[in-house]
Amino acid sequence: METRAGDPGAFARFDLHRVDSPAFVVDAAKLRANLRVLADVGERSGAKVLGALKAFSMWSTAPIVGEYLDGVCTSGLWEARLASEFYDGEIATYCAAYKAEDLPEILRLSDHVIFNSPQQVERFQPRIATARAQGQIFDIGLRINPLHPEGEVPRYDPCAPHSRLGFPIDQLTDEHMTMIDGIHMHTLCEQDFAPLARTWDKAFDYLEPWFGEFKWINLGGGHHITRADYQREELIGFLSDLAEDTGAEVYIEPGEAVALDAGILVGTILDLGWNGMPLGITDVSATCHMPDVIEAPYRPAMLGELPPDPEAVDEGEGGAIRLGGPSCLAGDVIGDYRLPESSEPGMRFAFLDQAHYSMVKTTTFNGVPLPSIWLWDSESDSLECIRRFAYEDFRDRLG
Ligand SMILES: Cc1ncc(COP(=O)(O)O)c(C=O)c1O
Repeated sequence: METRAGDPGAFARFDLHRVDSPAFVVDAAKLRANLRVLADVGERSGAKVLGALKAFSMWSTAPIVGEYLDGVCTSGLWEARLASEFYDGEIATYCAAYKAEDLPEILRLSDHVIFNSPQQVERFQPRIATARAQGQIFDIGLRINPLHPEGEVPRYDPCAPHSRLGFPIDQLTDEHMTMIDGIHMHTLCEQDFAPLARTWDKAFDYLEPWFGEFKWINLGGGHHITRADYQREELIGFLSDLAEDTGAEVYIEPGEAVALDAGILVGTILDLGWNGMPLGITDVSATCHMPDVIEAPYRPAMLGELPPDPEAVDEGEGGAIRLGGPSCLAGDVIGDYRLPESSEPGMRFAFLDQAHYSMVKTTTFNGVPLPSIWLWDSESDSLECIRRFAYEDFRDRLG
């Protein structure tokens, strides 16, 4: 997968020795800039914008998020708790399948509770009725699957054949619609406006008979709205037309767009070697700190990296050094890089665009330490260590 982000922004002038290694560093100024773009889309289109906690839930930045967005969307009980403890605004919760014991608290904490199938809504009707009888106020939504794949990678495409995510739109009936207040769909991943428009074209014909009957429609995430070349004017026009056509309040819930290019992962080269090409072992692990590098897979951009040198292919891949993590996993390889300076143990480097879907996915496999978390403000140059992790964090997850 080609990542379409990786703009160093103000990190180009950040001294990597100001933080521990490894460390995530988030730039509050860049976060605010992204949030301003999202708030502008919301204000001018009339749509509500929720930040997806699954992508970026560094809750020390919750007050900044709350200044700009209408709320957050969560993926189950623990994120809903985090949202109610730290974040402002509305909470929309969607989970592919709820556990009966979790549902009462989810209903209490969330404004929208979105189910993956009408069967779940039906099965949990008694709990929903009890919560309402206790005076709790929430809407029930249904995630639909518009059966229109637009994804580059099937693993990241909720509309891929036989996907479990969302109720197939061609199975929707009047009876299903009477059970719900709103419709949800999430079908995109790092995409432009055109795939959203094509998806809605497909969904329109199925949903039109019920226009005026559902209170809201939530178009999920995957909109790369804060990327410089995203078609924001088209999106704004589309969202306001959608509200007019359907008579529903429109929501979007971007995750990645909130934190795009707002964070780096700083690491250190620990050792160098040669096995048919130059090798470097680092204290940053793909499998423990950036699992999407292996899962997607993708190659994270590096701060200041040089372009491949076609003259140097004998020395390896374009004169590059292959960097990998300290774990025992043979596949713990990050990628091949031409480093900005000659490599030697102790040298610092940073991978770009690591605020989203990395910090939320770290593990301590092999006892590899977790990166500490820092908040920098590139406007004021203030730098704060938010959290350091210790041996006990590793130990206490194992029991
Ligand atoms: C239901 C739902 N909403 C929102 C998002 C956020 O998507 P993104 O971070 O790509 O904007 C996701 C991501 O998987 C999702 O599954």
